Amino acid sequence: MRTTVGIIGGGPAGLLLARLLHRAGIDCVVLEARTREYVEQRQRAGMLEQGTVHALREAGAAERLTAEGLVHQGIELRFDRERHHIDFPSLTGGRTVRIYAQTEIVKDLVALQLVEGPPLLFQAEALAVEKPESDRPVVRFRHEGREQTLTCDWVAGCDGFHGIARDAFPAGAGRSYGHEYPYSWLGVLAEVPPSCDELIYARGDGGFALHSMRPPVSRHHPSKEVASLPSGLPVSRHHPSKEVASLPSGLPVSRLYLQVPNGTDPDDWPDDRVWDELAARFAIDADWTLNRGPITAKSVTSMRGYVHEPMRHGRLLLAGDAAHIVPPTGAKGLNLAVSDVRVLARGLIELHRTGSTQLLDGYSELCLQRVWQASRFSDDMTKMLHAQPDGDAFDDRMQLARLRRITASRHAAAELAANYSGLPLSL
Ligand code: APR
Ligand code: PHB
Repeated sequence: MRTTVGIIGGGPAGLLLARLLHRAGIDCVVLEARTREYVEQRQRAGMLEQGTVHALREAGAAERLTAEGLVHQGIELRFDRERHHIDFPSLTGGRTVRIYAQTEIVKDLVALQLVEGPPLLFQAEALAVEKPESDRPVVRFRHEGREQTLTCDWVAGCDGFHGIARDAFPAGAGRSYGHEYPYSWLGVLAEVPPSCDELIYARGDGGFALHSMRPPVSRHHPSKEVASLPSGLPVSRHHPSKEVASLPSGLPVSRLYLQVPNGTDPDDWPDDRVWDELAARFAIDADWTLNRGPITAKSVTSMRGYVHEPMRHGRLLLAGDAAHIVPPTGAKGLNLAVSDVRVLARGLIELHRTGSTQLLDGYSELCLQRVWQASRFSDDMTKMLHAQPDGDAFDDRMQLARLRRITASRHAAAELAANYSGLPLSL
């Protein structure tokens, strides 16, 4: 097989890249190791920056997102039994974010690609990228029981954290930076309306908790979680959904997370224990109750920061989780993948139209600036809100002082709002 851009991975990065290239008249092929069902059921985060929404609109893939996505004007911070609203439009000159599950974006992009092209091969596992330094890099892959080759002008490694594209960087041609956080998230999906209009990030006595939501169940496929990975990391245990009565149509459902120790077994968290702990961590000195209901999925995700530098070697370009992972506090993973892809598509389109490699030559540097800023923001949010397992009373006070500064100073709140709602592409 022969193509202009060989894309490894049919997650949001690979699918969006294919769509943008296809619309610009550049041929490409997407190789996805898993089945369509698997990629469409994989539960991940669901907060979209305005730039991400814009990119999906530009790609002609935002019809359902526009109709069903929930526009949010800010977030709530909870600590010391108080609630504080951080209002994005007034702090950022009008920006908002949208709640729409990554799974749904994948379904939308897959459906478009299967109808309009370019080719998308499921159960096509890339084995290696060969000769990335040459003019004709080759992807070796296995499909329908036999090994095949895809000869390309360029290869996009969009194959996530566990992919193989990064392995094609020779020793010495790259460097990676990593950090493991000493806690995990227990994530649950519950068929109950959210207890709030906006996302709640809570620093409770027992640790961090997050209240998020998903658009209405009626229009959203049943929640068969194959994994729950806001950061694209392995899940320690998967719990298949139980059959539950659906909510009346038109109501969003609750998506909730709890900080738990690394190595936690979800079986140690029966539903009542989950709800009691969530209620304790969200508790405030005001009239507010957490809605409880049937939990349909439960899984544990570890938290990691990781960056691979550079993001390009010869004619191999990495995008999304293949190049970087952030901890999920702030939901930057998907947004970073989309911003990589916008820059990458722009570079490949410029080359196609003008013959210039100027944008592609700056690809890695431009993306990495944003990646490090998002890593810093996700790290700040994580450390400010999670109980540190080996922390002392001084660390507790520091966390509270950071949170107090945000709620007391418009400048500090504006800094959080700018990072959360998305820095501009060029920073
Ligand atoms: N060959 C082909 N496909 C592969 C291979 C391989 N060797 N290895 C992995 N893949 C596929 C995976 O099955 C997956 O569908 O690559 C895809 C990568 O998708 P994601 O992991 O979703 O990564 P990405 O597209 O970069 O999406 C960005 O940011 O933090 C997150 O949760 C967020 O997953 C989201 C991500
Ligand atoms: C989610 O809705 O899954 C979500 C939202 C915000 C986060 C992380 C996850 O910071």
